[in-house]
Parts: sequence; C-alpha cells; structure tokens
Amino acid sequence: MNKSIGKQFGFWWVSALLLGGCGVHDSGVATDAAQAIGSAVKVSSTDTFVGTSTTHELKSRRRPRVDAPAPAPAPAPSPAPVTPSQSLSNEPGCTSVTAATCAFNRTLGPGINFGNALEAPFEGGYGLSFNPTWVGAVKSAGFTHVRLPVRWSNHASSGNDATLEPNFAARVDFVIEQISSAGLGLVLDMHHYRQFDGDPVEPNEASVQPSVVTARAVNIWRQLAARYVGLYPNMAFELYNEPHGALESTWNGVYPQMIAAIRQTDQSRPVIVGPTWWNAASRLSTFTPPTDPNTIVTVHAYEPHPFTHQFAWGSQWQVATMCCDSAQRDTITNNLDIAKNWSLTHGLPIYVGEFGSYAAAPALSRTSYAGFVRTQLEQRAFAWSYFNFGLLNDWGIYDLSANSWNAQILDALMPTR
Ligand code: BGC
Repeated sequence: MNKSIGKQFGFWWVSALLLGGCGVHDSGVATDAAQAIGSAVKVSSTDTFVGTSTTHELKSRRRPRVDAPAPAPAPAPSPAPVTPSQSLSNEPGCTSVTAATCAFNRTLGPGINFGNALEAPFEGGYGLSFNPTWVGAVKSAGFTHVRLPVRWSNHASSGNDATLEPNFAARVDFVIEQISSAGLGLVLDMHHYRQFDGDPVEPNEASVQPSVVTARAVNIWRQLAARYVGLYPNMAFELYNEPHGALESTWNGVYPQMIAAIRQTDQSRPVIVGPTWWNAASRLSTFTPPTDPNTIVTVHAYEPHPFTHQFAWGSQWQVATMCCDSAQRDTITNNLDIAKNWSLTHGLPIYVGEFGSYAAAPALSRTSYAGFVRTQLEQRAFAWSYFNFGLLNDWGIYDLSANSWNAQILDALMPTR
C-alpha cells in the first residue's frame, strides 16, 4: 500500500474509533442458560454483559433482524453435465457433485476466517494487516483450513474488464502461499463489493458505473481462475460473500456467469456459492441449485441474531441476550436442518463459512454458542469456518498483541486438540 493511501486510510480508521468509541452499553450479570447445552463446552453459572465499544459502524454492515418469509420454492435442478473423469459421488448430500469435490469439502475440516484484513477497502483499514505468524497460530491450534475474505473489487480497474492491480494480486498470492505451504486448505472469497449488493460504497472505496458492476465481478473471477489454474489444489473459490439487496432478485442469473467464467480455464476447482439474504439457509428455497458438478453450497449460521450481533453495526441488536436456551437452540438447529434437508434433496454438500459472535456478547454465552453450533455442524457433516481470527474487540478470538487465543472459545471449537 502506498504511503499516502495508508495515511488517508489510517485517518479513516482513527476517526471511526473516535466516533464509535463513545458507545455505552448495558452491563449486568445473568444466569447462563447455556449451561443446559451439555458437556461439550465449559460454562459456569453466571455470565456478564461486557458492553463493548462499537468501532465499525462506518462499515455499513447491516443484517436484518428477522428473516423475511420464504418465497415459493425454486424449480428442481437439471442434471449436471459430467465428463467421464468426473464421476459423481454416491454419498448422501453429495450425489450431484464429483467424488473429489465431496471429499474436498469433507477434508476442509475446522477452519477460521482471516477477516478484517484484505476485505477492508484497503488492507489495514479495519485494523488488521495479514501477518504470516497468523498461519502458525491457526495451524498449531488444529484448524485445517482458512477462509480468506478479499475485496477484489476495490483493487481492479473501473471498467468492465476489472483488471486486477498487480501489487494487490501479488499481495494476495503471498497470503495464499503462506497458508497453503503450511498444509492448510483455503477458501478464497470475494467479499464486500458494496455496489454489487446495491449498497453505498464505504470511505476509500471507489465507485464504478452501475452498468459495469456485474461484469466486473464476473471478470474478476475469470482472471483469478486463470491466475491460479494448476496451483493450490487445496484452494476453493467462494463466489461472493452474503449476496443481498440488489442481488436478491438477480443472483440466480448472475452466479452461473461467474462459474462459467471460472470454467473457461479451470474445470475442476471447487467453487462455493450460497443463497441470498446474507447466505441465509431460509433462502435456499429460492436458490437455484448449481448444476456444475464441482460446486459446494454455503450458508452462514448466525442464528440467533439478537445474541450473535448484539451491539454490532449500530443499534439494531442492542438487546443484551444470553445464549443458548432451548428456544435459541431450536432456532439454531432448525436453521441447520433446513440446510441439511436441502443438501440431501439436491445432492450438494454444505460449507458453513461463517458463524460467531460479536465481542459485546456475554463471554460465557459466546463459548456456549460456539461449542453448540460447532457440535451441530459436525453432526450434520458440514465443513465450517469460524468468524473471526483477529480483533478481540470485534468478532475475533485471537489476541494479536499477546499472541494468545480466547482459550474458552478455542476449546469449544477444538475440544480434542
Ligand atoms: C462480514 C463482517 C461481519 C460478519 C458478521 C461478515 O461477512 O464480513 O464484517 O462482522 O459477517 O456480521
């Protein structure tokens, strides 16, 4: 990053801290209903609301609190064209994909997101720049893959072709190399192309002509597929994080264009794609199942939102909620069952690329939630990636100054490490 951009961006970040740092939230002590979950997680009888300053309001991140009623189901999928070298798996929930892609999803295993770094408008803008030491920390904790969110759209030319900035692409190459050479799997994810969703651009994010927005997303994947063809067999491409807004009505027509662009050069790399409404399982009912036989379907598992998102992103969830009583556990499992049933019906494997809780949630409940969701994901044979690695005052569970984990949440996620 050149110095003047770094300075401008540093200014934005400091301003955000000043603006957001004055937040005062509820505090108090309450019984932790989460202890009813069982022995998979460590809990005690009390839990405390910690009222954390929100520093990220300028990220314009908004999740709807209540899911919209699901529209009518989508038509059944047409059979995927399969070449002889790509025989389909016969595992339940995998029968529409190749045996290799089914195995790829299974072997991704437990993962963690390196968010808040490369998906900021410029690396560093959300407070984190990738450091190779992260890889060792993740590896020694026992995680077997990393999901890497990247805001490609702000590092590409403004026209249809979206030519990638060489320096930025080389930076991402470096990060990929670090992760991959440690023997970790990798999900390379396109993240926060705000105009794609019809959202306002962020400070330091370039705006492009509306007519080129979709073509740019497609052409970014065309370039990335060609860039990495034959390299990093342990890497999947995730087409776009949490499509919503403008994409609600167009996504089923747009995402196949991205897959087609990738398949021009790379026929077999696993591609990950999920439904709209921020990758909500409830929107699988309107999601046209991919017909490409090397595709994995993703959903996010942030239920119950009033718990996971309390005090995050402005005022929508200023609710001071514990987790997880039986109604909350039902919300979590019902949601995952929707994904499981959909997977069995359509023969497509599931990857849960994000679940986690914001720092302001009560600490013991955060641990209980993490352990409960992780157990439920594994019971359904879903690959998963926790959100997030860095920034303890955000969603992160790794303290970058002390080089140590939030030990309770890590134990809940990785009980046998
Ligand atoms: C976003 C984060 C957000 C998280 C939880 C992620 O997809 O990148 O900014 O904190 O979802 O809402």
